[in-house]
Amino acid sequence: MFYFGVDYYPEHWPEERWPIDARLMAEAGFNVVRLAEFAWSNMEPSDGQFDFDWLDRAIDILQSQGIRVVLGTPTASPPPWLMSKSPQLFRVREDGIRVTFGNRREYCPNNSLYHEYTQRIVTKMAEHYGNHPAVIGWQIDNEFGDRCYCSTCAEKFQTWLRSRYEALDELNHKWGTVFWSHVYNDWSEIPLPLTTGGSPNPGLALDFYRFCSDSYVAYQQTQIDILRTKCSNHFITHNLMGFKYDRLNYFDLARNLDFVAWDIYPRMQWTMETGVDPSSNALNHDTMRGLKSKNIWVMEQQAGPGGWEIISVNPRPGELRLWAYQSIAHGADAIVFFRWRTARFGTEQYWHGLLDHDASPSRRYEEIKRMGAEIKEVGDQILGSQVRSSVAMMLSYESRFAFQIQPNNPRFSYPEHFHQIYRAFHQQHVSIDIVAPNADLSAYKLIIAPALHLISDATAENLKRYVQAGGMLVVTQRTGVKDESNTVVNQRLPGLLAEVCGVEVEEYDSLSSHMQNNLEFMIPELTDSACVPVGVLCDILKPTTATVVARYTQDYYAGKPAITTNHFGMGRAIYIGAVGNAQLYDLVAKWLLDGAGLQDTFSTPSGVEVTKRTHKNKMLHFILNHNDALQTIHLETSYMNLLDGKQLQGDVQLDPFDVLILASSSPDQKTPLSQDVSNS
Ligand code: GLA
Ligand code: GLA
Repeated sequence: MFYFGVDYYPEHWPEERWPIDARLMAEAGFNVVRLAEFAWSNMEPSDGQFDFDWLDRAIDILQSQGIRVVLGTPTASPPPWLMSKSPQLFRVREDGIRVTFGNRREYCPNNSLYHEYTQRIVTKMAEHYGNHPAVIGWQIDNEFGDRCYCSTCAEKFQTWLRSRYEALDELNHKWGTVFWSHVYNDWSEIPLPLTTGGSPNPGLALDFYRFCSDSYVAYQQTQIDILRTKCSNHFITHNLMGFKYDRLNYFDLARNLDFVAWDIYPRMQWTMETGVDPSSNALNHDTMRGLKSKNIWVMEQQAGPGGWEIISVNPRPGELRLWAYQSIAHGADAIVFFRWRTARFGTEQYWHGLLDHDASPSRRYEEIKRMGAEIKEVGDQILGSQVRSSVAMMLSYESRFAFQIQPNNPRFSYPEHFHQIYRAFHQQHVSIDIVAPNADLSAYKLIIAPALHLISDATAENLKRYVQAGGMLVVTQRTGVKDESNTVVNQRLPGLLAEVCGVEVEEYDSLSSHMQNNLEFMIPELTDSACVPVGVLCDILKPTTATVVARYTQDYYAGKPAITTNHFGMGRAIYIGAVGNAQLYDLVAKWLLDGAGLQDTFSTPSGVEVTKRTHKNKMLHFILNHNDALQTIHLETSYMNLLDGKQLQGDVQLDPFDVLILASSSPDQKTPLSQDVSNS
């Protein structure tokens, strides 16, 4: 069944209202709700007093309308009676200040008292709902994240280090603690990288970031263990926060979940001025799908203007439906809207749901109801299909952490750089998988590993093997600089990848905001291209075996190579030595896709996205018009639009924010398949 539903907070509304809500949900085509992830106060009103009666009644009402339930464990918002037990329960920020009660996510993930209370409420819920016929699965906690710098975490960090390093000498050596007399004589001397300590040792800081990520993974596991035992027929997931979230190694967090779920809000306070970037949604989805190479759920799909203190721009008519189909196009097998009715109280009063504050079904409700009717028709035809990609981008949380510690240049951002390159490929309608550094790369024709700053021996081997066997690898500036200890390698850069890339980095330059350089292209395919500007960080390359693709035109390194390509084994490695803009990456994307024989089959106007999902013998092309204007696309052959059953060919008009799902036969069998959620 294609799950289509909404996040519901019955505890916010009088009980008389619940049957009306359930009926309106069913009328909108909803067959699932998520409940209870912030309802700890209601389920355990005081220490050890449990009350599930209200939730039972809410579930009964929903069930009577054929609606299934995903339960959230409530540990993201502990009640005051618990948090007043000990100051140690509260997280400490990186400036050393302990957070106070009043928001949510205040807890320390390593606090043993918090673990005890967590285990008890999760066990009670699991025992109560383990065999409930309406319950299908669990969301653990809610949007895990913030690092904690408390004394409990300091002790746990020291223990974590003891298991990572054989001896203190090894740690001292790998971190280079001889620098500034930081040599530790005892594990207990090792501090946390608090901002009060100033710029930390990069090795220490990176290990601490790893430890913080591991702490949430372990905390999540304590809940998984309970649910696996007591609710063996239910799925277990967590709602993650997309590509943009950078405090956790999401590959690790996803490992023991049945599938990844995540929360998407394209129109937020922080996109008020920039507007919605469809490629940002796409990158977020592809990253979430990539964590397990498996289709995903959207657990919170935007349902209206967002807002805590500020109200975001109102989603335009058609946008909510468009974004939900975009989620599906990128691999979502379930869509759950956040939230049902707009809260009248609390911090999120302006985070709009499908119903307004006064319960009127808004135009947003009507739009999603229309989609609900469509999903009833097409949902089952979409399920079982996957996104297949010949191109992958390598996401390294360790490199990302290393750049958080040392950005290298104030204007350099790893995620923005990554997104810029992604955007260029996305605009070519290329489907992209996001993969981990240790992923099996053999099925891809092209791998792009932006700013792979920190490289382990295993990753270097993985990439070498890939190119050796015929793959095309693209790396960019500041690659291979660090080893796993966040120490600079004792080799010419790009260190472990120097041989594959056939280059050495002679020098590098970090540019101020009023400095830039330009590139001119040297190879026949690109010599017609105009010069493109580059800046921020520039690697000055010296080919050993590589051929020069582009060179700098300015400054003391005018004439020196900036982009190179190298044959290695049966494949090629391309080094892009400077940070460019859209002009550079568009050019490079087209050049590489041509070279790999991966040209786009649809040509569409700007802002019309084309994304495919593939069945065994059928392909679904999602044509998504992100423009606020009518667009015309041209179809060479005839396709059936699943949404209205019409056969389309030639010039086809797309309304503003409208969607087509075009079915065709004969998929490309060669590309890898991400698994379908139902195969978990
Ligand atoms: C000062 C200090 C040195 C070194 C440099 C560069 O001059 O005395 O130890 O730290 O700055 O940061
Ligand atoms: C996140 C949370 C929700 C809600 C929304 C809107 O996605 O998971 O509980 O707070 O943001 O702010």
